[in-house]
Amino acid sequence: MIESFKLMLRAFGPARSRLFLALGLMVASALLESMSGLLFLPILEVMSDANAASDRQSGALKVIINTLHSFGINDIFGALCAILIFTYFFKSFFSIASLSFNAATAERVRLHWLELLGQRYLFAPYAVIAAQRHGTIANNIIRETTEVSRFLNFYLTYLINFFMVCFLVGSMAIVDWRVVAVFGTLISLVVIPIRKLLFGTASRLGKESIRLSQSIIGYVYETASAQREIRLFGAERLRITGIRSIMAQLTRVFILTQIIKGLPQPVGEFIFITVGGGMLYALHIYAPDQLALVLPKIAFFALALVRLMAAQSQLVSIKVAYSNKVPSVHLVFELLEDPRLAAEQPDDNDKMPAPKFEGLTFDAVSFGYSDDRQVLHDVTASIPAGKTTYLLGSSGAGKSTILDMIGRFYSPTSGSIAMAGHDISDYDIKSWRNKLGYVSQEAVIFTGSLRDNIRLGRQHVTDREVEAAAELAGLLPLLGTRPEGLDTIVGDRGLELSGGQRKRIAIARALAGSPELLILDEATTSFEENLEQSIILAIRQALPGITILVVTHRINTAKHGDCVLVLDNGRIVANGAYDMVREQVESLLATIDPKELKASHAVFRNNASNADDTDK
Ligand SMILES: Nc1ncnc2c1ncn2[C@@H]1O[C@H](COP(=O)(O)OP(=O)(O)OP(=O)(O)O)[C@@H](O)[C@H]1O
Ligand SMILES: [Mg+2]
Repeated sequence: MIESFKLMLRAFGPARSRLFLALGLMVASALLESMSGLLFLPILEVMSDANAASDRQSGALKVIINTLHSFGINDIFGALCAILIFTYFFKSFFSIASLSFNAATAERVRLHWLELLGQRYLFAPYAVIAAQRHGTIANNIIRETTEVSRFLNFYLTYLINFFMVCFLVGSMAIVDWRVVAVFGTLISLVVIPIRKLLFGTASRLGKESIRLSQSIIGYVYETASAQREIRLFGAERLRITGIRSIMAQLTRVFILTQIIKGLPQPVGEFIFITVGGGMLYALHIYAPDQLALVLPKIAFFALALVRLMAAQSQLVSIKVAYSNKVPSVHLVFELLEDPRLAAEQPDDNDKMPAPKFEGLTFDAVSFGYSDDRQVLHDVTASIPAGKTTYLLGSSGAGKSTILDMIGRFYSPTSGSIAMAGHDISDYDIKSWRNKLGYVSQEAVIFTGSLRDNIRLGRQHVTDREVEAAAELAGLLPLLGTRPEGLDTIVGDRGLELSGGQRKRIAIARALAGSPELLILDEATTSFEENLEQSIILAIRQALPGITILVVTHRINTAKHGDCVLVLDNGRIVANGAYDMVREQVESLLATIDPKELKASHAVFRNNASNADDTDK
């Protein structure tokens, strides 16, 4: 109870100032509800015997009659009915106000946590996020933050019912505390163990539903983005079966949760009726003559019990419902405190801004994505400023990894990457990345206009710069076919564009910020060789002094560069002017590809002969 109350206070976040208003509305609504119930007793008493001897009147009636008399009101019955109607009116008003206020508060809370968690993921170190499933991130940002607001809404509804039960029990105790004591003890003995079991199960089901929902969103995500492969390889049925199987588990959890949520009402009613009926029966057996005398009280208790039963069973149902959401609230808070998700660079950092680009030096850089496998070994190399350097190496050699380290997505395990006498990690990360124009191996396109795709959030990039960059990247032929020009909307991930067009947009995006170091990871491989050269030449003319780093598989194009860097299995085997390293480049050209081919032929041959064996 205390734990979940603290959790509720935290879940409020900045909306905590609304807590007092919420509590005020809830208390007012519950108090008026129980008062309206209490009023039934004097009404019943007046109805059953208007001239009842004062010793048979309940304390409440006496107080009311005396108060009304002191105001000069003699029509007690009429006055009681009028008070009842007024109380009901205000009770209904406060109850509706409280419900809508709580729902609005919960919604506000949802937006707050959604924004906070979204920021947490977007500013977290790239390496941490890259290692997570996209579906998990999507689930956590969308579903789990919604669950926090549901938790809050349920908890507030729980509080309303809690106050209601307290006031109802209080009003019953005013009428006859002995009945309440006996009734309360009997009920608690049965209800407490059942409640414990229900809450434990609800919380376990809540955890299970987080896991399954992360998993299904991940699965649907993957399926949606791999349409071509799924269709080409006939994996449609397999993917549908996969979705169905996770969904079936989720459905099972959902049904169980609904049952657990629904159980308290019938079980509670049964217990209440049994205990209440038992007590009446006992009265009937042991004091039959009292029965007629206390008829108004019995009628009052019967009425109060019906409402208590409803409030009490709702209390348990809602507690089950919010216990089911508690794991989500914990998950959101854990993610917000997870040190691995701490911002890559805090706002109050005092790092120096990166100065003008003066060339990069790699000094004995080693790196592995995991502790057990090194990808780069002792890389020592330099990328001179104002030149074009080609980075060559076979697939998996570590070329993109080197680029990601320049982009500061990963840091070396040992060694350093320096620029202008400082390790690049000493510079303010934003100012460092501002110097880079990065075209990654997969040209990523966002839904929106070509202009927005090229500018990508950098408000300082003017329309003129966007146009110049588009021209430089060779986008004019594409723009010529679209009447809206740069305002043409490209759909989801730019699917209606060709691979080469997507690459050109990515190049234009990199150029629009006037970078000092342009990094092209296989960006121009899909172009003709002379086209690649003419684009690089045009860039050089438009942005004199720019440093260009080109990663390519097309080894023979390296001769066009000022410098060549050859990487073999994570080790530098050559670094220098093309003429100086021509031999290493040519040996790479001559040896690596045929060797890879030979190895794969051998595998296919072995597989084929194994298959023949089994056939026999
Ligand atoms: N995120 C990652 N987690 C773990 N290992 C990775 C990751 N990215 C790459 N690797 C591994 O690191 C090695 C180098 O990968 P990298 O992408 O740098 O190669 P590459 O030279 O760019 O290859 P390609 O020419 O095929 O693009 C590979 O063996 C790859 O399996
Ligand atoms: Mg690569």
